Amino acid sequence: MTTAIGIDIGGTGIKGAIVNVDTGDLLSDRVKKPTPKGGTPEDIVDVVVSLIPQLGDAPADTPVGVCFPAVVQHGTTMSAANVSKKWVGLQAEQLFEKALGRDIVFVNDADAAGYSESQFGAAKDERGLVILTTLGTGIGSAIIYNGVLVPNAELGHLALDGHEDYEKVASYAAMEREGLSWKDWGERLQKYYAHLEMLFSPDLFVVGGGVSKHWDEFFKYLDLRAPIIPAKFRNNAGILGAAALAAHAAGTRTREGARDLVDKATA
Ligand code: BGC
Repeated sequence: MTTAIGIDIGGTGIKGAIVNVDTGDLLSDRVKKPTPKGGTPEDIVDVVVSLIPQLGDAPADTPVGVCFPAVVQHGTTMSAANVSKKWVGLQAEQLFEKALGRDIVFVNDADAAGYSESQFGAAKDERGLVILTTLGTGIGSAIIYNGVLVPNAELGHLALDGHEDYEKVASYAAMEREGLSWKDWGERLQKYYAHLEMLFSPDLFVVGGGVSKHWDEFFKYLDLRAPIIPAKFRNNAGILGAAALAAHAAGTRTREGARDLVDKATA
């Protein structure tokens, strides 16, 4: 059995677990802590450092994967939509490695979710083009073609229907903020997915994020050519994907190998 630790940093919570990366099963309880107010790098790193020992006994050389809500290129965070602007241009992977005293793999959160859903979840063995979106604090997206992830798609920030940044009106957080009914929110989602369909013609949409547990409430408002289904791992998809990518990278034995894997996101 190959195990790895997955950490998912979000706009509201930081979650982690030990994962069996052969099957995608969680081997520990999922530990969750609130994201510190302001979301600065120092504060978030501190939370991650304190969270790992709480996951239970894992050998010190267990690979660690961390996913984060920003564009991540070569270990550097290049954007910061729902966290402190201090992340922009920061060598985040290095920062975590220093604090944790070990190599890690650092990737975008939606890419991690897309990776796990295509490896073990709702899009397993799916040929053609899959678009996974996560509906949470923001809207995350992952593009997977024939099982290969194309990293750092930022489809949550499309300008649409008079809005400059559509995640601000169509994320789950936006629904809660505005007190929208499922129907009103569903109608916004329909506009969003129809637009993605016009741009990409995917063969399958997968919808992740915590809200996928309320699937039956909003699915009925979506009418698309492609099938649209909930993610198998819902809110755990990021943890699983980060862990699986870290284990995969550790298997390549070299740091360059690990980078290469994440940069190309080879399935
Ligand atoms: C960020 C993405 C992230 C998504 C979900 C967006 O605001 O730009 O990088 O994947 O939120 O967390």
